[in-house]
Amino acid sequence: MVRPVIAGNWKMNKTVAEAVDFAVRLRTAYSTPPDRRVIIAPPFTALLAVADAIRGSFILLAAQNLHEAEKGAYTGEISGEMLREAGCSCVIIGHSERRTLFAESDDRINRKLRAALTVGLAPIFCVGESLRQREDGETEAVIELQLKEGLNNLTASDIGKILIAYEPVWAIGTGKTASPGQAEEVHRFIREWIARRYGPESGAELAILYGGSVTPKNIAELMAQPDINGALVGGASLDVDSFIQLVGY
Ligand code: 13P
Repeated sequence: MVRPVIAGNWKMNKTVAEAVDFAVRLRTAYSTPPDRRVIIAPPFTALLAVADAIRGSFILLAAQNLHEAEKGAYTGEISGEMLREAGCSCVIIGHSERRTLFAESDDRINRKLRAALTVGLAPIFCVGESLRQREDGETEAVIELQLKEGLNNLTASDIGKILIAYEPVWAIGTGKTASPGQAEEVHRFIREWIARRYGPESGAELAILYGGSVTPKNIAELMAQPDINGALVGGASLDVDSFIQLVGY
């Protein structure tokens, strides 16, 4: 049984003060830690301050992106080592907004995954099809290609450190959620693909998160699906009361 994961991707939202206020309120809402892996992904500028606010608590800190190089002349970029130093234990890689708005290729995403693993960051590796691809019946082929290229050259031991997020592009920020059945179908496909390639244990232990218009209202029916182990939430993760409801679904 994979421990449920509730992750909030704040995207380009919250000042440092707002982020710290959220973190403190989340932390103090629990007298005993929830039986969930709880992850928040603030913008880069708030990482250090949030790390301070959650130190010693159940909350895990994620970054939303990293650069694949160790260091060097990459103006505006941030390395895995810097994220570790700032207190992150996870990093989101291959989000559809990075793929589409910042032209990140599968090959680039693969290099980012390897860079994250090298410094001990757990990647939350995102995959998902567009509306046109779904309508053209290409969902499984698209996901398979993203998995194959994104995970190129990784070992079963690497896979043990990765979380995968299925985020259909058409469901992100649109209020249109995949039905629990639609999401489950793709999650099962991902798990079976991983099991075939890396062994049954890798498949069974893999946490696969669903993302795309998850709210406190629809999370329970999504999480009731056998292959949905968590949620990667954007909009509904920004308000601390809403996030607490998501954690306690
Ligand atoms: P929304 O929950 O706002 O649809 O965003 C999903 C997402 O992109 C999380 O990474």
